[in-house]
Amino acid sequence: KFEGLAQKPPMGWNSWNKFECKINESIIREVADAMASNGMKAAGYEYVVVDDCWQIGRDSLGNIMADTERFPSGMKSLVDYVHSKGLKFGIYSDAGTATCQGRPGSRGYEFQDARIYASWGVDYLKYDWCNHGKQNAEASYTTMRDALYKAGRPIVFSICEWGTNKPWEWGKTVGHLWRTTEDIINCFDCKNNWGGLGVLQIIDLHTEIGDYSGPGYWNDPDMLEIGNGVLTQPEERLHMSMWAMFSAPLIAGNDIRNMSAETLKTLTNKEVLDIDQDKLGISATRWMKYGDLEVWFKPLSDGNYAFCFINRSNQPISINQDLKTTIKKMKVDDSYTVRDLWKHKDIGTTKDNIVGTIPGHDVLMLKLTKKLPL
Ligand code: GLA
Repeated sequence: KFEGLAQKPPMGWNSWNKFECKINESIIREVADAMASNGMKAAGYEYVVVDDCWQIGRDSLGNIMADTERFPSGMKSLVDYVHSKGLKFGIYSDAGTATCQGRPGSRGYEFQDARIYASWGVDYLKYDWCNHGKQNAEASYTTMRDALYKAGRPIVFSICEWGTNKPWEWGKTVGHLWRTTEDIINCFDCKNNWGGLGVLQIIDLHTEIGDYSGPGYWNDPDMLEIGNGVLTQPEERLHMSMWAMFSAPLIAGNDIRNMSAETLKTLTNKEVLDIDQDKLGISATRWMKYGDLEVWFKPLSDGNYAFCFINRSNQPISINQDLKTTIKKMKVDDSYTVRDLWKHKDIGTTKDNIVGTIPGHDVLMLKLTKKLPL
């Protein structure tokens, strides 16, 4: 694969969660305009990714063709537009014969598709797993990896295999990120009958696989549902905080052309984004679970730590936690300042216990910073 890409978890936007198949080139252009001007680009969001339904068929030579009704100007001109905003462009295909929405897949056309994407200037490929028949997952994704490599343009390769074939065990040399679960659904605490998972259910699947990810090869717990009208503000904070704790790719999935000030604030909280983008790229460990209260921690560069208390219940929970004794193992002493990353306030030092109440479905996300000797 192309080494050196995605040294930090990719950040961007993808059309699927909000628009599903109802996409067209104006939406994508307007999303690029919004990202470039609303503070998201400044906060680090970079990729504009067009998901399923952009493609319509293949020409007589097998070249993939964009749906000319939805994308009358063609993909190359759309990619150029996104680039003109200082952003990068992502596209979608599938390792099987057809995508999940029945559009042409790349099976048998891997090298040809990769060459075309490269000629359009694509920077990122999300590669899905529908209609794969009896294909071997690792082999299928390896074929596309090789095709992208041969095409010669550095393209971030996003493996969208849903975790069934444990991509964390083989994805490191194949792609730059891999989906760890079935699709996220727009809810906090639920599952549906085709395997879709809410925010808490996805978090639960990340207690054992954190060690598999790192700079250049990330666990991907799926795209964000922030701003899609179902999660409450505390739930959106929890979603954002835990994705940052996991060093997860942060791919917004809402209509960023038209979102509330609160949603924008949640998506662009710089202090939380810095935890996600920390250069060590360590994924958080769930370190304690007291019923509905969980404490996750993540070692950061410069000897600092992030802590995230999550309240899974809808009742407030009081806490009185001695961080320094609890994490002695991690050599935390009493010389750290403690900062609340959602209130943007220093709340004390590790000399004292963390005392407070966490509202239902909310978080307390803290950064412990080692005070340097003067
Ligand atoms: C799968 C993927 C989703 C989305 C759809 C598109 O379900 O997991 O993220 O790309 O296909 O059809």
